[in-house]
Amino acid sequence: MKGDTRKISEDYMDEESQLCELDRSKTYKGLVGLYVDESKITFIDGMQGKLYFRGYPLEDLVNNSNFEEVAYLLIYGELPTKQEYEIFKNELNQERNLPDNIITILKSFPRNTTRIELLRTSISALSLYDPDDYMYTQEANIRKGIRIIAKIPTILAFSHRIQSNQPLVEPSNDLSHAGNYYYMMTGRKPSNEFERAFDKILICHSDHSINSSTFSCRVTVSTLSDIYSGITSAIGTLRGPLHGGANERVIRLMLEEIKKKENVIPWVKKKLEKKEKVMGFGHRVYKTWDPRALILRELSREFWEKEEKGAIDKIPDREHEKHRGNIDNIFEMTEILTDYIIKTKNIYPNVDLYSAGLLHVLGIPTPLFTPLFAASRSAGWVAHAIEQLKDNKLIRPRLRYIGKLDKKYMKIEKR
Ligand code: COA
Repeated sequence: MKGDTRKISEDYMDEESQLCELDRSKTYKGLVGLYVDESKITFIDGMQGKLYFRGYPLEDLVNNSNFEEVAYLLIYGELPTKQEYEIFKNELNQERNLPDNIITILKSFPRNTTRIELLRTSISALSLYDPDDYMYTQEANIRKGIRIIAKIPTILAFSHRIQSNQPLVEPSNDLSHAGNYYYMMTGRKPSNEFERAFDKILICHSDHSINSSTFSCRVTVSTLSDIYSGITSAIGTLRGPLHGGANERVIRLMLEEIKKKENVIPWVKKKLEKKEKVMGFGHRVYKTWDPRALILRELSREFWEKEEKGAIDKIPDREHEKHRGNIDNIFEMTEILTDYIIKTKNIYPNVDLYSAGLLHVLGIPTPLFTPLFAASRSAGWVAHAIEQLKDNKLIRPRLRYIGKLDKKYMKIEKR
């Protein structure tokens, strides 16, 4: 199949290198446009709005693959054979359960805690129960990585159900990774169409090159710290609204602030006049449509059309039921918002804009939106930790000091 592959075009590299030409007299605030290493995992073509995992276009993976296969691809670099796939899927399946002590600490956490904080703290604690905790070989790192990817959905589902006083739903061995994750969160086995849509969402979020959380993960493992520490750092970084926390904010503003189609334009005008950011828009790398947003937009359109026709699985405790009658079609409100912001600001939607309405219509509890990002991205974080360690160089940039020097120390009584 070599004849079908291609290298990044020279035009693209020229455009990129102009953007990234290093000038030592300049400070690269936010590291905008800087390459910090080389990678064979993910390529984002921010000019054309394309995303590739290990060279495969995202759209092909979303249409033909599933989360387990994409996680394998990210970690090992190649698509699995049927046998490799079955083994990997089985390994993930076998690792879904949590040690009893982790369930005990999940129950001990204060109520009204965000699920992403619970996840961050639990992943840190989980390392203490990993049989490979002090093994640092690549094989041990992959085993630890598989445990992390397998257990995150269980931690999230359990912590959410504990926080909302619902009985725990034990992992089911007959369901796929996406199907079981959905089942543990909601207590209902998903229909095929729900499972497939949820799986696509997981694939779309599974990696995105050196975004802020992946950078944190790579920085942490570059000190030769362990992979659990890398992923704990990544989750802490993902928590912020400028990164993974945007989807939860998008749905809240739709449900609590905008509510009706006629409110969209006045709401957004006011927001932009005040120079405030609109969550779900803009991206450091994409200067056009984010391809993940396009995929989730079509899925969202499909599910909201079914919702309008009453042709969707009825989910009694869906948050949407509480707002029925008070809230217009969220997909249609999102489209009005998108149209206005592209026309007036030339800023495009990112993945969080359309994932918000889609997760909502699928009945995913809102407090689990941001951590869902972590559940999928764990595949990418593991792949990046392993790649970093294969050819490691301590990541340690510099800060340009702009303070004063040689100040005179004055005794405390005299200050
Ligand atoms: N709403 C309104 N204006 C936005 C915007 C948004 N969501 N995103 C960017 N802009 C504007 C900025 O105000 C800025 O305008 P200015 O040059 O007139 O000051 C310009 O576009 C560049 O934005 P900046 O924040 O400097 O770009 P960045 O590369 O540092 O930021 C994000 C990228 C993602 C942090 C930014 O777009 C953002 O905050 N988006 C909202 C949060 C979000 O959806 N995050 C999820 C990302 S997947």
